[in-house]
Formats: sequence, structure tokens, C-alpha cells
Amino acid sequence: MILGIETSCDDTCAAVLAPSGEVRANVISSQGIHGRYGGVVPEVASRHHLELINAVVAAALDRAGISLEDLSLVAVTAGPGLIGALLVGVSAAKALAAVRRLPLAPVDHLQGHVAANFLDPDPVEPPFVCLIASGGHTLLAEVVDHDGFRVLGRTLDDAAGEAFDKGARLLGLGYPGGPALEALARDGDPESFAFPGVDGRPGRRSDFARSLDFSFAGLKTALRYRIADMGEAELASRRADLAASYQRSIVESLVGRAERALEQTGLGRLAVGGGVAANGPLRTRLATLGVEVKVPPVQLCTDNAAMIASAARFGVRLEYPRYLDLDAYPTGIEPELARGPRGS
Ligand code: KG4
Ligand code: ZN
Repeated sequence: MILGIETSCDDTCAAVLAPSGEVRANVISSQGIHGRYGGVVPEVASRHHLELINAVVAAALDRAGISLEDLSLVAVTAGPGLIGALLVGVSAAKALAAVRRLPLAPVDHLQGHVAANFLDPDPVEPPFVCLIASGGHTLLAEVVDHDGFRVLGRTLDDAAGEAFDKGARLLGLGYPGGPALEALARDGDPESFAFPGVDGRPGRRSDFARSLDFSFAGLKTALRYRIADMGEAELASRRADLAASYQRSIVESLVGRAERALEQTGLGRLAVGGGVAANGPLRTRLATLGVEVKVPPVQLCTDNAAMIASAARFGVRLEYPRYLDLDAYPTGIEPELARGPRGS
């Protein structure tokens, strides 16, 4: 049995995974408190992880019907993420593993999102293209085996979920903004405003236009200017149109590049992960690509520890006491410590 722990952002997560890939427990405690600040406050997140981690681990063991004695491996996100938040999970994992002399697997958070696709009940076998779009990351990866991925493209500025959140904020919606913006957009016309990115040309630089990288900062600025140009009455009547057009721009950026990634790699299967995968118009648009599209259940798309345990099934294990000086890596783990991105 593998115990997974994930605390890289604002969700305190623990999961129990059977050797077969069956998720026995997947506990996610969302810290709810960050909404009042309009985004995640790192120090607040760390404090909450500290308060929640023991209870969340206990709940995961309890739901799985096992005790600490039944564990054979502890897996933990060691980066990338918020340094203080990561350190809580890494310290807890080290302590839980060390007292039982168990091995410990440091896991790359993005490899975790990729490995969510290897879980039951509907595991995806490599090779496939993986699109991960969350509040912190936007990544296109070529996954040819179970223990790493080749980076095809990533965001140069804001993440896709961040673009949803910032757009929602400009439109007077709460945090997290993705679901609220999607709901507002249902009453709007997605073609009423021309925002950058719809035709896959978010930048003027031709090298960027050809690449599989993403950029969402310009889109957010375009929305800001549109809103600033409007009077209060016009804004009130066009909010849904703005939301729908803005959402379409993000969706088309994601889908356009995913389509090119499939063409470039010659692969016929696309797996999607991250909180933005919950977006209805994105799912609908992906279904038009004419390839097999796999989206794990929402609780495995958003941050969770089952995906971290899943990555650990195929990744590096450190034996006791080698991991006692394991650090947290806010910008990404060193390649010799954990599998994950292999060049770009
Ligand atoms: O993966 P996640 O739960 O946490 C991390 O950021 O790692 O992703 C959260 C992000 C937020 O930016 C949120 O606004 C976005 O996913 N999101 C959505 C939707 N649901 C969540 N974006 C668009 N449409 C949605 N339905
Ligand atoms: Zn994530």
C-alpha cells in the first residue's frame, strides 16, 4: 500500500493506493479561506496545511481501512509549488516513513498530474499527449512511458486557470473564478468580442506563434481595456458576452495547441488534467478533435494525493535514511531525485 501526500498549493491531500493502481482513499481538504483574499496566500496555506495534515492522513488510512503498519511506501510532492506548503508535506512524509524505515518517493507535481491517467478505473496506457491546465500550471507533454514526460509547451506567463481567475475578478466574480466565469458565459455570445488567441496566434512573434507554448497575460490585459472602455450600463448588459468571448479565447488557445501537439507527435490520444479540465466548453471543443480524449474524474484532475501515489508506483524510491535530508523544490525537483520533465 502506498500513502500519497500532496500539499503544494492550497489543498491538503492524502491518499492510499493499492499496488494494482486501485484508489482506496483520496482525501482532499480544500482550505476555503483564500476566496476572501482573491487568491492563495502562501503563508495562510502553510499554516492550514500544518493544522490539517495529521487529520487528513488519518482520514485517508481510516477510509482505506488500513493502519500505518500496512504501508510499504510513502510518496510526497517535493515540487514545484509554494515552498512553505511543500515543506509541510515533505516533513510529514519523512516522519511517517522514517519511524517505520519505509522507503520514500519524492514526486514531481506535474508528473503527478500525468500519472492521474494511470489510475483505475480507466487507466490510459502511454504513448499519449497530455494537456494539464490548472491554476498554477499549463503544460503540453508527450508521455511515452510511465515515469516521465517530454515537455512540448508550457505557459510563458499566466496559467490557464489563473487567466480564468483574473478574468473573473475583472468581471466582478468571486474566487476561484473558473466555474463562475463558465456559468456567466452560458448566457453570452462567444463571438461578440475578438480577444487574442482565438485563432492560435496569441503573440506577434513568429517563433512563439509556431511553438506549443501558451501566453495568457495579453488576453487578461485586453479584457481589462475592454471593460475600462465601457460605461457602467454597457458593462452590465455585456458581461455575459465578455465572459463567453474571453472563455472562448482560452479554450481555443488550449485546443489549438493540443491539436498541433497531436499532429507533431503523430499520437492519436489526448489525456487532460488540472482544474480547468472541468470546463464544459473545453470538453465539448476537445471532443471535436477526432482523437480519443481521456479526462479523469474531477477529483483526480484537480490537486489530489492519489495522483502522487500513482507517480510513485513508477518513479524513484529513496531508502531510509537517504531521504532524511530531502528538501522541497519550489521551482521543480532535481531530475536525479524524481522523474518528470525531460528537457523542453
Ligand atoms: O487543479 P486545480 O484545482 O488547482 C491548482 O491550481 O493546482 O485548479 C484550479 C483552477 C482554478 O484556476 C480554477 O478557476 C480553475 O482551475 N477551474 C476552472 C473550472 N473549474 C476550476 N476553470 C474553468 N472552468 C471551470 N469549470
Ligand atoms: Zn496541480
